[in-house]
Amino acid sequence: MRGGENAAVERPHLQTLSVHAGNDVDPGTGAIRRPVVMANSYALPDDPSALSWSDFGTPLYTRNGGANQGWPEEKLALLETAGERGNVDAVALASGVAALHAVFFTFLRSGDHVVSSDVTYVAVYRLLTELLPEKYGITATLVDSSDPEAVQAAIRPETRLVHVETPANPTTRITDVEAVARIAHEAGALLSVDATFATPVLQRPLALGADLVVHSLTKYLNGHGDAMGGAVIGDRALTDRIRADAMVNVGGAISPFNAWLIMRGAVTLPLRMRQHCESAQAVAEFLHADPRVAYVAYPGLPDHPQHALAARTMTGFGGMLAFAVRGDADTQNRFVANLRVITSAVSLGHDESLIVHVSGDDERAGAYPEEFRRWGHLRFSVGLEDPRDLVADLDRALTETLGPR
Ligand SMILES: Cc1ncc(COP(=O)(O)O)c(C=O)c1O
Repeated sequence: MRGGENAAVERPHLQTLSVHAGNDVDPGTGAIRRPVVMANSYALPDDPSALSWSDFGTPLYTRNGGANQGWPEEKLALLETAGERGNVDAVALASGVAALHAVFFTFLRSGDHVVSSDVTYVAVYRLLTELLPEKYGITATLVDSSDPEAVQAAIRPETRLVHVETPANPTTRITDVEAVARIAHEAGALLSVDATFATPVLQRPLALGADLVVHSLTKYLNGHGDAMGGAVIGDRALTDRIRADAMVNVGGAISPFNAWLIMRGAVTLPLRMRQHCESAQAVAEFLHADPRVAYVAYPGLPDHPQHALAARTMTGFGGMLAFAVRGDADTQNRFVANLRVITSAVSLGHDESLIVHVSGDDERAGAYPEEFRRWGHLRFSVGLEDPRDLVADLDRALTETLGPR
């Protein structure tokens, strides 16, 4: 499909956008794949006197934005808007945390207040509870954002941002983005949504009223566990401020090679998400039915507290779940050590299944459901292996750890 976003298909579907958006024929070589451009600097015009060294609109310097950053940014803006880009832009940064920090750093100043989900990726928790209050006098109230009334009750006159993570890491708690957007906007605040677990395939928060969407590109967007990146997507007036403040002046730029890898990985995002969802459902149902398992948190199970909300507002339940086997922390560790197909490692959204044991005294455990506190949890990123092999691996490790069913 030549011509990028102005291509021949009038309203391409998400899967077509994933393949083609941001890609085009390379004018220098005729190659039908975008090249890797590792240059730090770009040729200046004969008279550069009119240029600002902080400019990000003109090819200048890779920290101000380079070729490889631009192409996945275009793909992300189109994926998040299902091809109806309008004024929406994406800014790619060095990691998911760089993208989250960029939102807080760009849109908050001393004295401002944030309302945030109480369960978020741990760096957000530390930013909002330690770093931003101590260094910059920005305060935050953390609430269970699956309860819109709790979000409403936490709003103050100085609230400038509501930040939610949905589904939340690691509890898989779901927030009603539409309801929370209404609350944020009535208060004159922006709503940012960390949709790393959902990806644009399962939910597009901008269409539900969010102002900014944040992704760790390290996870599903790249999908292969070999490149770090993050992105913020929203109205260009907002993303331009992030480019100026957090990218050019703070320096959180993504490496061109990582951007190229993420661009390639994102091609198969819808296909991968379909399999992640299907396999996670199968694995969650297997674990749920096994008496050796203490609990399973997965939005696709009818006993998940926000199952109906997820079914209404997402097009799939995702590839992430949390569970625990019946036993103490040592038993959880032995169970993990007995797995052969599933790898014990942090991160998520990779092609291979990843599991990590977090004990019940995790620093954020106060905000976790009771069963997480009692048993600890195994955060499980269900990968692209055949789900029958994943179930067999879990079943065998359960038997080796706890005896037969
Ligand atoms: C929901 C969520 N957001 C953000 C991040 C941070 O992403 P990165 O590791 O790319 O900085 C993570 C990492 O696990 C995450 O799970």
